[in-house]
Amino acid sequence: MCLAPGGTTLGRVVTERDTLREAGAIRSMFDGIAPRYDFLNHLLSLNRDRGWRDRVVALSAPAGPVLDVCAGTGDLTLRFAARGELSVGADFSEPMLRIGREKSAREGRRAEFVAADALHLPFPDRAFGTVSAAFGVRNLADLRGGLEEMARVARPGGEVVVLEFTTPENPVLRAVYLLYFLIVLPIVGNLLSGSRDGAYSYLPRSVLRFPGRARLAAILAGVGLMDVRVVDLSLGIVNVLIGRKPGAGEGR
Ligand SMILES: C[S@@+](CC[C@H](N)C(=O)[O-])C[C@H]1O[C@@H](n2cnc3c(N)ncnc32)[C@H](O)[C@@H]1O
Repeated sequence: MCLAPGGTTLGRVVTERDTLREAGAIRSMFDGIAPRYDFLNHLLSLNRDRGWRDRVVALSAPAGPVLDVCAGTGDLTLRFAARGELSVGADFSEPMLRIGREKSAREGRRAEFVAADALHLPFPDRAFGTVSAAFGVRNLADLRGGLEEMARVARPGGEVVVLEFTTPENPVLRAVYLLYFLIVLPIVGNLLSGSRDGAYSYLPRSVLRFPGRARLAAILAGVGLMDVRVVDLSLGIVNVLIGRKPGAGEGR
């Protein structure tokens, strides 16, 4: 389910070699689970993931072409395309992109899927009205670097939108959530995906390591975005964060 290994590198010194090694492990893990990724996403989230992506699209104002980074099999990319925006899904896993392209062709959407590393996006500055990532930034070997890239390719006045997991603050809810997340989900996910990397054991680990909503909002502001807002979904197990790139004359 929208999973990821590794997690953030916040708080430790990272060499270029670490970053490349981590990225390679992440990519091969997603390559391996691509065929069952959508099915397990829907199953393990009890179908909530569809609603979460719908909310992302509803919360972001149409602002021109969309770039969806860490697009995976394109569920968010295709939702933006369904709203009528020219949408580009970028990911470094070819098997995930292939599924995205097949779904796009089936649905007849105006979407393109390109192989790209989120840390070195092959797009010029200020090219997109909306730059999104659903359950993606948690996977990046360099979280801040990835968010800087997203902000770089956003147009002035455009938005950067991030959908991510967090752990709920309410202690009772947190206990139930952790029981499901740490025990049930890895067993079912690893079994049904046939993952040889134990891919679904990484999901809880990466979420627990990932900075919470307040820290993530601070990083978005730190990469130059303004009016950063956070919307909690499903009792706070998922957050949408939206920041706006300053328009002309809105210097910070
Ligand atoms: C958990 S999936 C999310 C997919 C999709 N956005 C969704 O909502 O289901 C994370 C995706 O991020 C991709 N990814 C991770 N690190 C990346 C990087 N550095 N550059 C490009 N894609 C990356 C993986 O290949 C994977 O497809």
